[in-house]
Amino acid sequence: RRQESQSLYQLTEKAADYYQRQLRSHPAANAAIAYLRNRGLSGEIARDFGIGLAPPGWDNLLNALGDSAQKADRLEQAGLAIRRGDSDGRTRPDRRHHYDRFRNRIMFPIRDRRGRTIAFGGRVLGDDKPKYLNSPETPIFHKGRELYGLWEARQANRDLKRLIVVEGYMDVVALAQYDIRCAVATLGTACGEDHIQLAFRHTAELVFCFDGDRAGRNAARRALEAALPQMQDGRSLRFLLLPEGEDPDTLVRQLGGERFEQLLEEQARPLEDFLFDLLGEGINLQTMDGRARLSKAAAPLLDRLPDGVYRQLMFQQLAARTGLDRETLQEVISAEQARA
Ligand code: UTP
Ligand code: MN
Ligand code: MN
Ligand code: MN
Ligand code: MN
Repeated sequence: RRQESQSLYQLTEKAADYYQRQLRSHPAANAAIAYLRNRGLSGEIARDFGIGLAPPGWDNLLNALGDSAQKADRLEQAGLAIRRGDSDGRTRPDRRHHYDRFRNRIMFPIRDRRGRTIAFGGRVLGDDKPKYLNSPETPIFHKGRELYGLWEARQANRDLKRLIVVEGYMDVVALAQYDIRCAVATLGTACGEDHIQLAFRHTAELVFCFDGDRAGRNAARRALEAALPQMQDGRSLRFLLLPEGEDPDTLVRQLGGERFEQLLEEQARPLEDFLFDLLGEGINLQTMDGRARLSKAAAPLLDRLPDGVYRQLMFQQLAARTGLDRETLQEVISAEQARA
């Protein structure tokens, strides 16, 4: 089993080298380089993140690394080749049994905590769908447990004062381009408990900075719930809500690095503010009904907090806002749990 994984690591590494070489030398590289330039990325940042190119065509990688049936099978296990007929039942006009998963895409290698390439995200150069294609789960890649950019952030900073959690590959890379080298992204999945646990292993301060759209706001809410059980005293969690239509990539390119960091300092809202604002939306605390609704929504959430001073303070906040004492709030929690 371990040996099997070893050879998968070697294969994804070879694939990463291959994609990077194509970005330098393939005839299609000019368009890809122009695309990256146009998005404000320098060659240096592209190198730091190992960005590459999967050229157009069905079997470039297979020809380079899969020149036997056995090797093609390994590429399939690594998530880089697809067995023909698996996904759509159509046959391709060649006699092979596999075709390349990633075709005509900018390639972002995903590295694990030791810097080993374990998977890829690939972006189309234009507006085709899907915009991003990610490696599937493989024996060496569990996307719920990896953060894109974490290894690069640790390379750039001996001590990570904080981590900025963003949605996308391009957000991580664009921030790095402006010398903000502490951003990490989840990989096309919601930011869950495992992601947050991993991030908190490397720093005590997280700032969630998701897109200024409905998906981003939903992601923030889910991340909040996932984070609550992990808010031990001494940890800090903030939320920077971006203007409608912006994401960290577009914003840092407008503002520059210094003003983006200033925005983070001044506008990122602590967990407690974010939580009470979110739950208080549309609720009038002047009314008894409003206070009842807030306590029903908030008490079970706060109950997810681990024991500690922070938990006590949060319950005090809720008590102050609703006028209910701690004991009554506990009854609300029990009643809500019984209902669920
Ligand atoms: P976004 O649509 O916000 O992507 O999705 P983005 O990073 O801002 O894209 P561009 O390049 O600037 O246009 C955020 C993240 O969700 C995942 C990717 O990880 C992406 O970075 N995603 C998005 C997918 O996995 N597949 C998709 O088709 C779209
Ligand atoms: Mn893993
Ligand atoms: Mn978005
Ligand atoms: Mn985005
Ligand atoms: Mn974007």
